[in-house]
Amino acid sequence: MSSPDLGEAERRAVAEVLATPFLSMGEQAKEFERAVCQTSGAAHAIAVSSGTTGLHLCVRAAGIGPGDLVLTTSYSFIASSNVLLYENAVPVFVDVDVRTGNIDPDRLAQAARQLTEGGKPAQTWLPRRAAAAKKPKAILAVDVFGQPADFDAINAIAKAHDLTVIEDSCEALGANYKGRPAGRLGEFGVYAFYPNKQMTTGEGGVVITDDEEAANFMRALRNQGRAEGDTWLQHTYLGYNYRLPEISAALGRAQINRLEEMLSKLALPLRKLSEDHDIIVEGHTDDQGNDARNLKLSKSRAAAVRDYLVNAGINADRLDSEGYGETKPIDDNKTKVGREANRRVEFMVLEQSGDGCPRPAAAPPP
Ligand SMILES: Cc1ncc(COP(=O)(O)O)c(C=O)c1O
Repeated sequence: MSSPDLGEAERRAVAEVLATPFLSMGEQAKEFERAVCQTSGAAHAIAVSSGTTGLHLCVRAAGIGPGDLVLTTSYSFIASSNVLLYENAVPVFVDVDVRTGNIDPDRLAQAARQLTEGGKPAQTWLPRRAAAAKKPKAILAVDVFGQPADFDAINAIAKAHDLTVIEDSCEALGANYKGRPAGRLGEFGVYAFYPNKQMTTGEGGVVITDDEEAANFMRALRNQGRAEGDTWLQHTYLGYNYRLPEISAALGRAQINRLEEMLSKLALPLRKLSEDHDIIVEGHTDDQGNDARNLKLSKSRAAAVRDYLVNAGINADRLDSEGYGETKPIDDNKTKVGREANRRVEFMVLEQSGDGCPRPAAAPPP
C-alpha cells in the first residue's frame, strides 16, 4: 500500500472531463473498462464505485443468498465479509497460512469436507447462531497485502466441492501468481482504487470475469437494475447505483497507463532496502515467481529498518514495535531521493509467537 502518485497526465485527464457535460455513464468508464481488460486479459470488466460494491456484485452474480455458507479468510479488510452479510449469507472463517497471511488451503479443504459431511465437526466451523451445517456455496479468497492466495489449491478444492470462486484482489493489482495476474485466478476478481492502492480513481473499483452472462447481470445491477435494452424507468432487477463517475474513470485511464512505472517505483525502495541492509522481505517474491508488494518484518528487524529509514531522511515514527507502521513524507520534495522517499511505504511488524510462527502484533488500521 502506498500514497497516490498523481501528475500532469491525471490533472489533464480530469480537466478534460470537466470541460464536457458528460459526468456519468459516458465513454470514460467504457474506455477504462477496455484498458482493464487489456491489462488483466479478462474478457469483461465492470467499473464500479468501490472495491466493496464490486465484491457485492460478485456475491449477487454467484447467486449467494440467505443462509448460504461461504468459505473465506479470517484475515482481511472488513469489506470482504460484509458483502456476504449484505445478502444474509454466513461467512465461514478459515485460518491463514502464517507465511503468507492468506487462507490456508489445508484448512480450507478440511472446512469444505467437514461442512459437506455434516455432524459435529461441521458445526465447529459455524457461529453458534448460524443455520445448520450444509454444503458450502462458494469461496471468497483474498490476496492480502498484494500477495496472491494459493489459487491452484483453492480452485482444486472448489472443483471437488462444486464451489464458485471469488477473488478479492483489491490489494493486489499488478501482482502475479505462477505467472498469472492476480484478479484472474477465480471466476470473478475485484480490484479496488482507493488512494492507498497501487493506482487510484479516488474511490472506485472494477470487477473482472470471463463469464459474459454474469458480466451483463452485474452491469445491470450496477445501473439500478436496468438490463440491456431497458429504458430509464425500466428495472429488470433489484439493482443499485454502483456506477463509477466519469471523472474517476478518466483518472483511472491516466493511472492505468502508468501502472508498470508506478509499480516499479514502489518495488525499487523495497529491493534496495533488502539488498543494502540484508533485510528479509517476506513474501516479496517467492521461488515460484509470486509477488507481494508489501513488506513484513520480524520484530527483531524492525529496529534495523527504522535506523535505515531515519538515515535516509525518512520519518519512520510510526514504524514501532507495537505492530503496524508507515513512513511519513520528508521535507525535501525537490530532489529525486526526496520524491522517491515521499512515496509512503507501509510496514507490518510481525512478532515471534511461542510456537515460532510470526503473527501480526496488531491489526492494521483501515
Ligand atoms: C482486501 C480488501 N477488500 C475490499 C476492499 C474494499 O475496497 P473499497 O475501499 O474500495 O470499498 C479493500 C479496500 O481497502 C481491501 O483492502
